[in-house]
Amino acid sequence: MSLLAELTHRCPLQCPYCSNPLALDGREGELGTGDWLRVLDQAAELGVLQVHFSGGEPMARRDLPELVRHAASLGLYSNLITSGVLLTEATLAQLAKAGLDHVQLSFQDVDTAPAETMGGMPGAQQKKLAAARMVVAEGMPLTANFVIHRGNAGRVGRMLDLAVELGARRAEIAHTQYYGWGLANRAALMPSRAQLAEATRAVEDARARLSGVLAIDYVTPDYYADQPKPCMGGWGRRFVNISPSGHVLPCHAAETIGGVPIPDIRTDSLAAIWADSPLFRLFRGTDWMPEPCRGCALREQDWGGCRCQALALLGDAAATDPVCTRSPDHARISEILADLPQTPPPLVYRRYGNAPTGE
Ligand code: SF4
Ligand code: FES
Repeated sequence: MSLLAELTHRCPLQCPYCSNPLALDGREGELGTGDWLRVLDQAAELGVLQVHFSGGEPMARRDLPELVRHAASLGLYSNLITSGVLLTEATLAQLAKAGLDHVQLSFQDVDTAPAETMGGMPGAQQKKLAAARMVVAEGMPLTANFVIHRGNAGRVGRMLDLAVELGARRAEIAHTQYYGWGLANRAALMPSRAQLAEATRAVEDARARLSGVLAIDYVTPDYYADQPKPCMGGWGRRFVNISPSGHVLPCHAAETIGGVPIPDIRTDSLAAIWADSPLFRLFRGTDWMPEPCRGCALREQDWGGCRCQALALLGDAAATDPVCTRSPDHARISEILADLPQTPPPLVYRRYGNAPTGE
């Protein structure tokens, strides 16, 4: 159903919750324009409906309008996932003419100072506000995305008011997901249970007062859940991710899973990778499941949760996601939450070459 095209890992921001891997792909290894045009052809042929142009910052690629035009010519719905800081009126006009369907613009916060501290880029907030206004003036649907952590969980109501003021039709309030840089910074970013409750109340209140004005998607931190999320809608069921260097993955963190070759779009077709590659077949369906998932009535709802989370927290990608209260390893989550420090440690910013040692 969906292709996430990670065009580049380059980005002017340095968010410590970035979902990109700790080992970022350099510019020299990126797929070329011709490679991406071929990927889009193969995706359309395979039946993909939506393409999300992402990164890093996808606008760092000069060929973005050409890729959008090609996606539109194939009937693919196109979404640009951007920080907005590189957007100009001229590029936006080019993208609109090329047939871009939707823009998802990320904000680090509602207030300038904490936003720019988190993104590590002075002047970014004004650029983002200007980008949002440009998108709306162009008549393009806008989703405003806010990533939530312990430093900003009390400002969710004001974030949603900002989304309305900017003319967004949809807002995404997404608690940090603890993969990649987010996992490395977990102790600094994880909200308390009380903060989560406050953020949830702010979303519920806004849903009531902004009904018909703003649609709100809410993504919670699954460490506080009883049942895991159906990560990616199930492994190899509806989603494919292509990294800047051409690795084809069932999810953005799948390169952490060892033991099977990582498929490469430069050497194999998307259809062959989707159907036959050992990586895509590894956790597809329910046959791979251990107990308690194997006998659980919910196994085709959450597909056993997240394989990358099981690997990161338990060292075993084939284990039941420890977020699940039925998992024999669920105590690991309680231990992590109990060990959160009162004072958050310093953030490790996303930069090339300073990958911290994660869990
Ligand atoms: Fe989901 Fe497995 Fe937990 Fe059942 S036991 S709720 S399938 S993670
Ligand atoms: Fe890889 Fe959830 S992020 S399966």
